[in-house]
Order: sequence, then structure tokens, then C-alpha cells
Amino acid sequence: MLTEQEVNEKIAQIAARISEDYAGESVHLICVLKGSMFFTCELAKRITLPVTLDFMSVSSYGNGTESSGNVRINKDLDEPLDGKNVLVIEDIIDSGRTLSYLMENLGSRNPKSLRLCTLLDKPDRRVTDIQVDYTGFVIPDEFVVGYGLDYAQKYRNLPFVGVVEFIEE
Ligand code: IMP
Ligand code: MG
Repeated sequence: MLTEQEVNEKIAQIAARISEDYAGESVHLICVLKGSMFFTCELAKRITLPVTLDFMSVSSYGNGTESSGNVRINKDLDEPLDGKNVLVIEDIIDSGRTLSYLMENLGSRNPKSLRLCTLLDKPDRRVTDIQVDYTGFVIPDEFVVGYGLDYAQKYRNLPFVGVVEFIEE
């Protein structure tokens, strides 16, 4: 769906916008494991401001392709968010269930600001109202892998974004 070059160019553009929007401040990136790790690294390298990082792991998908609606925190942040410009980095927003839970949870931790950045957005599937501040690509309702995204934990390391074709037997 998206070549490595297309993704990298887009990430450079988003990083430039973030660097402009937060000029004179620092940003605290929250990488939502595991899918966002590749995007977070590439983005962080291109932001020209002081950057700090923290990691959180939540699950809403099992090994299938449907969001369960139940969000569980598998690993919480190491640092408090008080007074920080928090920027949540997601790989993809699908139903939005994971994110609406997460944004509310993080918002209650007293950050100076709280914004959301996603590499991919599948708005067709949204069931909750979510404000996305930085979007890489709006994509159609297809199940994609690569650049951090998995199918049953595989294919995260593909350097591009590809569509999974499910073959009926
Ligand atoms: P949501 O709660 O439905 O928005 O689910 C978001 C999470 O589902 C993402 O962080 C991904 O882990 C996973 N997900 C949603 N769509 C895809 C996809 O097309 N490929 C791989 N993972 C996906
Ligand atoms: Mg994920």
C-alpha cells in the first residue's frame, strides 16, 4: 500500500510540523507498544526539539483482526506526565476504542498538553469520537502490516506497509 520511501517522506513532514508547533518547548513522546515503535523511532530522529520518550503497552486485539473493546494496560509508563507536552504516537487508529481509553487515561495525569499522532488512520471503522492532531496517511478499510503493524505478531519488520489478503479455503 505504501512504499518505504513514501512512509519516510511523510514522517519527515510530520516531524517538521511537530518541531514548528512546539518550537521553544520539549515534547514527551509516548510510544504505544509494540506497533508504534518503528514510527516513533523514525519520527523522534527527525524532531529538532528536545525529546523524551516513554513506553506503554495496551492490548485490544487478540490474534484476530477485530478490536475487542476491552483495553488492558500490559505495561504502564515509567514517568509521570505532570507539566509535560505529551504526544501519543500510534501506528494505526481503527475503531478508536484503544485510543479513546488511552487519551482519557493519560489526560487525567495532568500533562501540560496532550496530542495524538498516528501514522495510519482508517476512519471508515471508527466507533468513537477522537481528535487526531497529526495523521500520516488516511487509508481504506483493509488489514495492513509492516512498519510496526502485525498480523498475529508477524510482519512488523517489513519496511513498507502492505495489505494482507485473506484466502478462503
Ligand atoms: P482500535 O482500538 O480498533 O482503534 O485498534 C487499534 C489497534 O488495533 C492498533 O494499535 C493495532 O494494533 C490494531 N490494528 C487495527 N487495524 C490494524 C491493521 O490494519 N493492521 C494491524 N493492526 C491493526
Ligand atoms: Mg497495536
